[in-house]
Amino acid sequence: MSILWKRKDLVGLKDLEAEEIQLVLDTAKSLQEISLRPVKKVPTLRGRTVANLFFEPSTRTRVSFELAEKRLSADAINFTSAGSSTVKGETLKDTVRNIESLKVDLIVMRHPASGAPHRLAESLPISVVNAGDGINEHPTQALLDMFTIREKKGHLAGIKVAFVGDIVHSRVARSNIWGLTKMGAEVTLCAPKTLLPAQVEALGVRATSNLEEAIHEADVINLLRIQMERQSESYFPSIREYANNYQINRDVLKHAKPDVLIMHPGPVNRGIELSSDVMDSPYSVILDQVTNGLAVRMAVLYLLSGVRNRAAKKASVHS
Ligand code: CP
Repeated sequence: MSILWKRKDLVGLKDLEAEEIQLVLDTAKSLQEISLRPVKKVPTLRGRTVANLFFEPSTRTRVSFELAEKRLSADAINFTSAGSSTVKGETLKDTVRNIESLKVDLIVMRHPASGAPHRLAESLPISVVNAGDGINEHPTQALLDMFTIREKKGHLAGIKVAFVGDIVHSRVARSNIWGLTKMGAEVTLCAPKTLLPAQVEALGVRATSNLEEAIHEADVINLLRIQMERQSESYFPSIREYANNYQINRDVLKHAKPDVLIMHPGPVNRGIELSSDVMDSPYSVILDQVTNGLAVRMAVLYLLSGVRNRAAKKASVHS
């Protein structure tokens, strides 16, 4: 398969073709070894400036993007809404227009409002990468999840992935559903009924509230945190009851395949969705996900900058 990346932005996996997802994963594979070199840097994005705009807390995604930019020799500027003029009432549009005036080449944005990066991408000539928007999508997380599964299992087609946890508030689940189903994987969602989205069949996935049923054939169990910060009402009686029914621990894993992979996008609430011993066991590939996220984000930045290179060359030929 040989295709060129043609998109200006990466705002979600909903609109991506399987070939485009494959291209990101293959590009990440080829960039993976850069981080193993004694000098972990290539000049690919030298002279380019990337603005990381984080209007919501983040550890993994923010650090991973910043390191990916450094590995590719881009200049990175980091903006977090806390401590910025956002707290003085500046609008998102004005904040971004000011940052754009600094002639940045690419924006990576996390925002609590679903659709915020999409609006930015429509209004700006530069590339925009969605680093998580509200409950909508988190495309680079799903790409790194798929990359990790492919690394561990060799392929994605036919792989059975069970998502367990707060599906309805999860942008990670939503991006994974779009991505995994396009790549031929089989997805099962498992949660109390109140935490399952409506009309899941339309998404091409199965849903159940029975944990044993969800995991017994799964090749991968991807756990999702209960997102207290996104819940305005109580979706289940108590965290303790949730953990009793849905926690992945040694006892529950007796019902799973012996080579099942345990994944989690982080941050993990140890002892709630996942027992501490399983989190630190050989089943867990959670830290591999973090490592792979770097190569995947390097691939995304590399592919998007290629589009800008070609557009700039075309413009100079026609001027
Ligand atoms: N997986 C993820 O998005 O983690 P952060 O919120 O720490 O970036």
